[in-house]
Amino acid sequence: MLRYLTGGESHGPCLTAILEGIPAGLRINKKLLDEELRRRQAGYGRGERMNIEADEAEILSGLRGGETIGSPITLLIRNKDWENWKDIMSPFSPPESSRDKDKSSLKTTDKLTRPRPGHADLAGAIKYNHTDMRNILERSSARETAARVAVGAIARVLLKEFSIEIISQVVEIGKVKAHTADLTVEKIRRQRDKSKISCPDRTAEKLMIEEIGQAAKAGDSLGGIFEVMVTNVPVGLGSHVHWDKKLDGRLAQALMSIQAIKGIEIGLGFETARRPGSKVHDEIFYQERQSSMEKQGFYRKTNNAGGIEGGMTNGELLLVRAAMKPIPTLKVPLKSVDLITKELVEAAVERADVCAVPAAAVVAEAVVAFEIAKAMREKFGGDSLGEMKRNYEAYMDYVRSI
Ligand SMILES: Cc1cc2nc3c(=O)[nH]c(=O)nc-3n(C[C@H](O)[C@H](O)[C@H](O)COP(=O)(O)O)c2cc1C
Repeated sequence: MLRYLTGGESHGPCLTAILEGIPAGLRINKKLLDEELRRRQAGYGRGERMNIEADEAEILSGLRGGETIGSPITLLIRNKDWENWKDIMSPFSPPESSRDKDKSSLKTTDKLTRPRPGHADLAGAIKYNHTDMRNILERSSARETAARVAVGAIARVLLKEFSIEIISQVVEIGKVKAHTADLTVEKIRRQRDKSKISCPDRTAEKLMIEEIGQAAKAGDSLGGIFEVMVTNVPVGLGSHVHWDKKLDGRLAQALMSIQAIKGIEIGLGFETARRPGSKVHDEIFYQERQSSMEKQGFYRKTNNAGGIEGGMTNGELLLVRAAMKPIPTLKVPLKSVDLITKELVEAAVERADVCAVPAAAVVAEAVVAFEIAKAMREKFGGDSLGEMKRNYEAYMDYVRSI
């Protein structure tokens, strides 16, 4: 089974992840991991923290001579900002309850007691019986997603061995919508890579950047919508037989677990509810293959299902969309109530992003990569990459023979 856990606080010394179940014999290139981490940090609208960090993944176990050996892979990403937080975040000496000398700094040794609406602060403080909400926000922070991106980068390397690729695009920020329905996946990738906010539609990109600029000026924040596509997925990943084997359910859980994600659609998503069945379901066709390598066989002319039917991949492009709410930490804070005094106050202000939709799309690519890699490991097994590939080829020979 492919599985992982992450550890680490936003201003602690580092983030860690342990990934288990990657077969032996997979070549890992450190540059690929670091490139994914760099992508997560980029994007117009990120806060000052991203100028401090230059994330790099260190691999502490599971790899020898650039190849996986079948044992758990331990990943570590250092927080450069830790230097500035050593006292406050020290595991042993409790911070003094006196304000930091530098009043202009947001860093304070006082307890954080003014919960931010939309964040984990208040519910977490009550649940874990904390009087300092820093004990909650340090872990609820999306800094944790750096570890998930590193895990996803390894999952991606595994998927590449089977020619499976994952790509995302930002399609909405605030009120601005991009028009990219006519673009091929390859064109989306090329145009997105040139964009400051991962949006392939130039006109929309300009308006989105303006919108983020205006939100920043007003001390406000913005959310948006992105799409993740997975190409060349074989038919039959996931299963209809149990709730926890359905791939659509697993993808939704993985995506919804990303901080600030509030809605998921697969394929046509919510729009399916507004149309009659004849305008939703993708009709099935069949084209004889000229050679055993040709893709045809059963195929569809539309892909409203987003590549999943009955909890299983159907061989078409896998397409999911996720909605991110606006960032909860606002420069012009919302009203809140002090945890201790119960007085009406302004919510706490931490250093924050104005809009992190492009970054969330990179995180989404990573969690989708992990879920697809997990489903591939379940279906094709094998302790080494060679064994997994033999199993995959045998199955694909069967699929191509139908
Ligand atoms: C990439 C990324 C960056 C984020 N940056 C911030 C931030 O700077 N400030 C903030 O308050 N929330 C940020 N968030 C959102 C919060 O982490 C999230 O809203 C919070 O943990 C509460 O969880 P929930 O929104 O899922 O309920 C970010 C989320 C993502 C995915």
